[in-house]
Amino acid sequence: MILEKTVKGVREQVKEWKRQGLTVGLVPTMGYLHEGHQSLIKRAVEENDRVVVSDFVNPIQFGPTEDLESYPRDLDADFKLCEETGAALLFNPEVDEMYVGDFVTFVDMDGVTKELCGKSRPIHFRGVCTVVSKLFNIVTPDKAYFGQKDAQQLAVIRHMVRDLNMDIEIVGCPIIREEDGLAKSSRNTYLSAEERKAAVVLSRAIFKGQEMVKAGETDGEKVLQTMKDIISEEPLAKIDYVEMVAWDSIEVHHSVDQSVLVAMAVYIGKTRLIDNFIFEK
Ligand code: PAF
Repeated sequence: MILEKTVKGVREQVKEWKRQGLTVGLVPTMGYLHEGHQSLIKRAVEENDRVVVSDFVNPIQFGPTEDLESYPRDLDADFKLCEETGAALLFNPEVDEMYVGDFVTFVDMDGVTKELCGKSRPIHFRGVCTVVSKLFNIVTPDKAYFGQKDAQQLAVIRHMVRDLNMDIEIVGCPIIREEDGLAKSSRNTYLSAEERKAAVVLSRAIFKGQEMVKAGETDGEKVLQTMKDIISEEPLAKIDYVEMVAWDSIEVHHSVDQSVLVAMAVYIGKTRLIDNFIFEK
């Protein structure tokens, strides 16, 4: 597997693959890869001739008080996981390779970015859309893979690709969970042993909400209140949001009369974790 630090190097390699008529899949990540990322890479390897994994902690998607500095990094472990999983190239640029000098161009969106994480992380999706657009321009993949754990991000990227006529298929992949239900996340490493136990409250609330909706409950308020009550029983948990939105528009929608996304962000101690379920109708 190739480790590439430069935009030029990635472009040359991809050009060569395309010259040979090979298809290219992209898995954008911020590194510190776990089984969730690995499931995306596996899927990409199944569906493409060559797979590029990007490994870049993107500074412009972090707010000033967020965890940019402490975000976990382990390039050697990431390289090993990508190689074992069958990726062809790991792209790990430095910040000044991606954002040269007087960088002032951003990809910004209305609508889908305004609710849920967009409320408490106002610049987050502008940073995500900008870096993902750049990665799409650098790698020019046929398909790109995103996890459903960041469901709003998946919806945002799908909208961006549609709105800007990007010729890339966006593939959403299911949430991968720990045995006790906690959704896999690089940020789980921040949790102390006590917090790790408490964090299971997110998936407990998600599973309960999902069970209610599957059983036919259409009143979103009832579903959300039940989920909030479960979380409130855990003293280490503090709700940022628990919300139901229409799955296509990401607008608040408290009735299960169409496909909905039920999503939450909850602080366990200082660590902000997210989880969700989608009910398709
Ligand atoms: O989901 C992530 O890890 C990041 O938001 C992404 C898509 C790699 C952009 O930096």
